Amino acid sequence: MKATATSTSAPPLAPGGAPLLGHVVPLLRHPLAFMDSLRRHGPVVRIMLGRIPVFVVTDAGLTHEMLTAQASSFGKGGRLIEALSRFAGNGLATVADGDLHRTQRRLVQPMFSRAFIAGRGDTMIEVARSVVDGWAAGEPRELHDDMQELTLSVFLAALLGTEPPEATRRRIQRVLPDVMAGTIRATILPPWLGSVPTPTQRRQRDSFTELRDAIGDLVDEHRRPLRDKGLLDLLLDARDPDTGQPMSRRQLEDEVITFVTTNGQASTATVLWALHEIGRHPAVRDRIVAELDEVAPGRPLVGADLGSLTYTRRVVHEAMRLYGPAWLLTRTVTAPASLGGFDLPQGATVVFSPYILHRDPVVYPDPAAFDPDRWSPERARSIPRTAFQPFGGGARQCVGESFAWSEMVIILAETTRRWRMVPDPAVVPRPVPRVTIHPHRLVMTPSGTGR
Ligand code: HEM
Repeated sequence: MKATATSTSAPPLAPGGAPLLGHVVPLLRHPLAFMDSLRRHGPVVRIMLGRIPVFVVTDAGLTHEMLTAQASSFGKGGRLIEALSRFAGNGLATVADGDLHRTQRRLVQPMFSRAFIAGRGDTMIEVARSVVDGWAAGEPRELHDDMQELTLSVFLAALLGTEPPEATRRRIQRVLPDVMAGTIRATILPPWLGSVPTPTQRRQRDSFTELRDAIGDLVDEHRRPLRDKGLLDLLLDARDPDTGQPMSRRQLEDEVITFVTTNGQASTATVLWALHEIGRHPAVRDRIVAELDEVAPGRPLVGADLGSLTYTRRVVHEAMRLYGPAWLLTRTVTAPASLGGFDLPQGATVVFSPYILHRDPVVYPDPAAFDPDRWSPERARSIPRTAFQPFGGGARQCVGESFAWSEMVIILAETTRRWRMVPDPAVVPRPVPRVTIHPHRLVMTPSGTGR
C-alpha cells in the first residue's frame, strides 16, 4: 500500500510552519538552530517547504540504515542534487544511482585510494608550504580566501601531479563562490519562487560556464608530469572494463568540476573551523607543534610523516564533528518505504544531516565544546560508529575521504608549524550554512613562528 504523509504512521510535523511557506522561513533565517531543534520531535520529522512535505531523519542509526541496508529505497536525488547538477552535470556526486554511477565509481576509486594519495603526499606538502610561506608576518588575513587557495592548490597539485599553473588556479578560485552561492536557496525555496530569474542567477550561470571552460583548458593544457602521475592522468587513462572505452570529454569535465567543488567546500570549511578553534585554544596549538617537532625534528614534513600526526588528525576529527560540515543532504524515496516505523511516500525528499547527528548530547557530552581528545583511543571507544558520519555512508559515501584527511592534516600542520595565527577579537565567526557550514569571516594574523 502506498503510504501518505497523513497516514497514522506518518512522521510528526515540526512546529513553527506558516500556511503558504511552511518551514521555509526558519530554514532560511536560522537553518542550523532549526535543524538541530528537530531532534526533539522524533527520529524522523516532517517539515514543509511551501506545500511540499520533506522528511528529516535526525537519528544516527536510521540515517545509516537508510544509506546502507535500505539504500535501494532511498535513491541519490532530491532538491540538493538537482541544484548541484546545474553545474556538476553527471559527476560522481550528482549522477543518479545505477550503471553510470557504478562504472564511474569503479574508474575513479583507485585514484582516491590511500596508497595513491600517499604517493602524492610530498607534492601536496610542498605546494601547501609554498603558499603558507608567502604570507607576511603581522598582516591580518581573511582566511576564507587563503584556505580556498590552499585547498584548491593542494587538490590541483594532486590532480596534475605537479605544481598547478597559477593563472588557472586563480581563474577557478574567482568563480567558485558564485558557482556555489545559490545552491542552498535553490534547494530550500519552493520551485515557483526559485525559478524567478534574477541578476544573481544570471551571474551564476556565467560562473558555471567559466568554471567549465577553465577545467576544459586545464585538461587541454595538461602535460604528463615527469615525476608522479596525477589524478587527471588516471582519469584520462581510465577505460570502462566492459566496453574498453575512455570517459567522454563531458563526463571527464563533470568529474573534475565535482572534485574541485566538493573539495573546495567541505575541506575548506573544516580547516577554517579548525584554525578558528586552534586560535581560541593555545594549548591545542602547542600540542600540534610539539607533535610536529617530535615526528619531523629539525626537518620539513614529508608525506611519510602524515600517518604519525595522530593529534593533528584528532583536531581535524573534532572540527568535522562540531561543524558538520555537510548539514543538509538529500535522498529521494524510490519505493514506498518505512524507516524507524514511519511510512515515507514514494517520490518524497528525505533530508539527513551529519551536523545534527554530531551534536547529539547523548553521544557527545557538552556537544558545543571543541574537545579533540574525544577522539583519543580510550574515549572514542564509547562513541557508536554511526554517530560520526561526516562522509555519509553506503555506496554513495564520499570517495575523497582519504584525500580529504591528508589534505586537511597537511594544511593544518604546515600553517601551524610556520605561523602562530592570532585571532582578531573583533571578528567572531558566525556559521553560515551554504552547501557546507562556513564561518562568515575568519580574520587571523600570522605572527612569528608556530613555536
Ligand atoms: C572534509 C571533507 C569532505 C567531507 C566532509 C565530504 C563529505 C561528503 C559526503 C557527506 C558525501 C556523501 C553525500 C551524499 O551521500 O549525498 C560525499 C560524497 C562525495 N565526495 Fe566528499 N567530502 C569531503 C571531501 C571531498 C573531497 C576532497 C573530494 C574529492 C576531491 C570529495 C568528493 C566526493 C565525491 C565525488 C562524492 C560522491 C561519491 C559518490 O556518490 O559515489 N569529497 N562527500
